Amino acid sequence: MSHSKTLLLVITFCIFSSCYIPNPTIAHDSSKSFIHCLTKKSIPPWLIHTRSSSSYTSILKSSIRNPKFLNTAASTTPLCIVTAKKTSHIQAAVVCGRRHRVRVRARSGGHDYEGLSYRAEDRREQFAVVDLSEMRSVRVDAADGTAWVQSGATLGELYHAIWSHEPGLGFPAGVCPTVGVGGHFSGGGFGMLQRKHGLAVDHVVNATLVDARGDLLDRDAMGEDLFWAIRGGGGGGSFGIVVSWHIKLVPVPATVTVFDVARTPEHGAIDVLTKWQEIAPRMPEDIMVRVIAEPHRVTFEGMYLGTCDELLPLMHHQFPDLAMIRGDCNEMRWIESIPYIHLGSNATVADILNRSSISRVNTKNRSDYVRNTIPNHIWKKIFTMLQQVTNLGEFQMYIDPYGAKISSIHESATPFPHREGVLYNIQYITYWNGDANGTLALKWSRDLYKFMEPHVSKNPREAYANYRDLDLGRNKVVNGISSYHYARVWGKRYFRHNFERLATVKAKVDPDDYFRNEQSIPPLFK
Ligand SMILES: Cc1cc2nc3c(=O)[nH]c(=O)nc-3n(C[C@H](O)[C@H](O)[C@H](O)COP(=O)(O)OP(=O)(O)OC[C@H]3O[C@@H](n4cnc5c(N)ncnc54)[C@H](O)[C@@H]3O)c2cc1C
Ligand SMILES: *[C@@H]1O[C@H](CO)[C@@H](O)[C@H](O)[C@H]1NC(C)=O
Ligand SMILES: *[C@@H]1O[C@H](CO)[C@@H](O)[C@H](O)[C@H]1NC(C)=O
Ligand SMILES: *[C@@H]1O[C@H](CO)[C@@H](O)[C@H](O)[C@H]1NC(C)=O
Ligand SMILES: *[C@@H]1O[C@H](CO)[C@@H](O)[C@H](O)[C@H]1NC(C)=O
Ligand SMILES: *[C@@H]1O[C@H](CO)[C@@H](O)[C@H](O)[C@H]1NC(C)=O
Repeated sequence: MSHSKTLLLVITFCIFSSCYIPNPTIAHDSSKSFIHCLTKKSIPPWLIHTRSSSSYTSILKSSIRNPKFLNTAASTTPLCIVTAKKTSHIQAAVVCGRRHRVRVRARSGGHDYEGLSYRAEDRREQFAVVDLSEMRSVRVDAADGTAWVQSGATLGELYHAIWSHEPGLGFPAGVCPTVGVGGHFSGGGFGMLQRKHGLAVDHVVNATLVDARGDLLDRDAMGEDLFWAIRGGGGGGSFGIVVSWHIKLVPVPATVTVFDVARTPEHGAIDVLTKWQEIAPRMPEDIMVRVIAEPHRVTFEGMYLGTCDELLPLMHHQFPDLAMIRGDCNEMRWIESIPYIHLGSNATVADILNRSSISRVNTKNRSDYVRNTIPNHIWKKIFTMLQQVTNLGEFQMYIDPYGAKISSIHESATPFPHREGVLYNIQYITYWNGDANGTLALKWSRDLYKFMEPHVSKNPREAYANYRDLDLGRNKVVNGISSYHYARVWGKRYFRHNFERLATVKAKVDPDDYFRNEQSIPPLFK
């Protein structure tokens, strides 16, 4: 056959199979036989959404949180989405995926900062999404103080279910109610109860997981190494698909006090913030005062596990510079603090069940950990930089104090390593509109990140795995397997000394590197 004839055949083939994958023959055959395999394994056809299904786009977009990823032409989308309703559907997707060389990516709440639960950067990547949003039951055992929660539940659904069974119980996880349990627990999970109770994963006592062979394993069957790895070292999608988590609930008092005290840089905010660094990580565990820094306003947002009467003397004694007054106090039940803090003072408890509060602005986030206080004159320079951003977009820094429980757990107890000695975590959030690729805003945000380097943790410069950032590095596949050597660059930053152990576990449970994405744990063979 002549060259031109081959080319013509390939082109024709591409038109008919609507392919954009360089190796059309494999792509077409394997995707067809993959889907055939799914049906043979008794996944009902209406749960399988292929690119030609009318439901495909709406299902794909249903939990995309960042509009920059709604432009699906810019990355590779899944061959199909399986909206699993049962564990056997997840197992079938993995078994068929292995057999027909189609990878699967799990999607729980879809909040991944780089969209890795539903998009791939490599054009040649063929994958299917197993969407878990229909697998979201929460079974609370109030007498035992535990619950089994499925990965597809949102944090709002989890908090709500606990509260409706027993208002005296709660759970320490993130502040945003639409975040999915599956991805959140896979990277650690922290929020307003972190100083009293630590991370979400510090309270996971059992789990069920579909592994790379398609087998369903509980804690006993998976063994302690794998059970250790999935509690924060997934970074999402490295070891298998976690179906459900058994968690220990924590007591919450009848009344909590929430406050927001705002200061402007012109009226002493920078000095108060400088002091905050010394004070907030050392306060009693019942109080968390985080900071939301914006170019022209610094908000000290707090939650105290008790009443205003107890809180005021404590604040006056420990943090007099904040000059908090009784009028700043908002007493409420713990469950009410969830909508209040994330959705505003008018939101109701029912609002935390709303899964569709999608953001309309583009963002890019990064993170840092700080182990030594940053001097006042540096903070002044930071604010000078922040005030330059206004004509490019908007900017926020979320600064979460550590100390107390979250810092007292040993660094190797779970894969999440940012414990003893950490004063606080910074999340930098750059927002932009208009210019879809945000060229100017992104350049500005890179410059700020560079400026911060001497003032934050070093060797490695730490970052939080749940605030995924592909600028830290991405996997390089060597001989069909993600290379440990390249992955170390970003891996050490998320996991410090735990990275090597994670890679060793990966080699044992998924030596072929089936569960893989741009930043999954690579196998390390010893
Ligand atoms: C608005 C917003 C607020 C946030 N607030 C907080 C906060 O307060 N505290 C905090 O700690 N983090 C917070 N985060 C970060 C959040 O924890 C992570 O983005 C988390 O990974 C999201 O989980 P998900 O299930 O929604 O995401 P998904 O996009 O569904 O998944 C994220 C990653 O995990 C993998 N994954 C998903 N489900 C499973 C599963 N069942 N088994 C194995 N792998 C799986 C995916 O493949 C992907 O790689 C926030 C994020 C957003 C967008
Ligand atoms: C960055 O963080 C903010 C605040 O939590 C969130 O609203 C936004 O969706 C995040 N960005 C991305 C890309 O997910
Ligand atoms: C984990 O859960 C399974 C399923 O409920 C149970 O059989 C097993 O005993 C549990 N293991 C532990 C260590 O709790
Ligand atoms: C809350 O609702 C009231 C009355 O509708 C309104 O005046 C106020 O602006 C709202 N507050 C916020 C923070 O949205
Ligand atoms: C859920 O939130 C969206 C966006 O804020 C809103 O438009 C919608 O009305 C809400 N749905 C319910 C049932 O409250
Ligand atoms: C940014 O987006 C614009 C269209 O919005 C496009 O013309 C331009 O080429 C893009 N720039 C880069 C660097 O991608």
